[in-house]
Amino acid sequence: MNNSVKDRSIIITGAGQGIGQSIAAGLARAGAHVIVADINADTASKTAEDISAAGGKAIGMTVDVTNRQSVTELIAKTVEKNGKLDAMFNNAGIAHVKKFNDITEDDWHRVMDVNAMGVLIGTQEAAKHFIAQGKGGKIINTASIAGKQGYEPLAHYSASKFAVVALTQAAARAFGKHKINVNAICPGVVATDMWKLIDKGFVDEGLTERDNEAFDGFSADILMGRPSRPDDMVGVSIFLASSGSDYMTGQSLMVDGGMVLV
Ligand SMILES: NC(=O)c1ccc[n+]([C@@H]2O[C@H](COP(=O)([O-])OP(=O)(O)OC[C@H]3O[C@@H](n4cnc5c(N)ncnc54)[C@H](O)[C@@H]3O)[C@@H](O)[C@H]2O)c1
Repeated sequence: MNNSVKDRSIIITGAGQGIGQSIAAGLARAGAHVIVADINADTASKTAEDISAAGGKAIGMTVDVTNRQSVTELIAKTVEKNGKLDAMFNNAGIAHVKKFNDITEDDWHRVMDVNAMGVLIGTQEAAKHFIAQGKGGKIINTASIAGKQGYEPLAHYSASKFAVVALTQAAARAFGKHKINVNAICPGVVATDMWKLIDKGFVDEGLTERDNEAFDGFSADILMGRPSRPDDMVGVSIFLASSGSDYMTGQSLMVDGGMVLV
């Protein structure tokens, strides 16, 4: 057993900021050759530059995870630059706060397209590549505590994250025979721009009165005594991208400091 990601070629989507950025930097510190992929070209290239400046191996690339051609091009360019692909983190996601009865069809499609269909496409295209490569591979999806509990003003977001858990299980069943491990990470309350947006959404919907009230409320009972930082996801990411997790598949791991015990 070996928990090393040294010289592994790894794509992380949604890595221009937040959790994906920390996962990319952490994997690079551990010796991986990371592809920092994001719909935002500026943050993708800046993150890759920062990782390289710190001595890591990183390349920034643009991707829209809802667009299959964009994802196949991302994988092709990765193989062109790094010679192979060993692991794919389907991490890009968006959040949206709205009271249950106000969620529109457009709200539903926007959130489901990025969070659920994006993971479907990323998983399919990575799996096709791994099968052709013939050496197995690792797929790691970012779900959420909202993939285990439905939160009322985040109903469509929660549905999208339950979908990520389901896709993780279904893909594990589909690709186990090809030695492809498919697992997910379920973060809790992580201090990123996404939570700033969620917090503002609670205020805009009249559910809270002040900035950070929702963030503080959700964080109040975390067993580890604090909300999460993005780099809390690094250890589990290294494990899931390494051979140490070779006998594990179809799992969605809670990495939430002890918020939701399932
Ligand atoms: N922050 C939290 O508390 C929390 C908790 C649980 C799960 N998550 C999940 O973790 C992941 C990362 O969240 P975060 O907090 O870092 O969010 P974030 O908003 O800080 O970062 C998300 C990144 O995804 C990118 N992105 C959005 N749409 C994209 C698309 N179509 N194609 C490619 N990239 C796209 C954005 O440009 C951004 O860089 C998401 O899937 C999110 O749902 C976050």
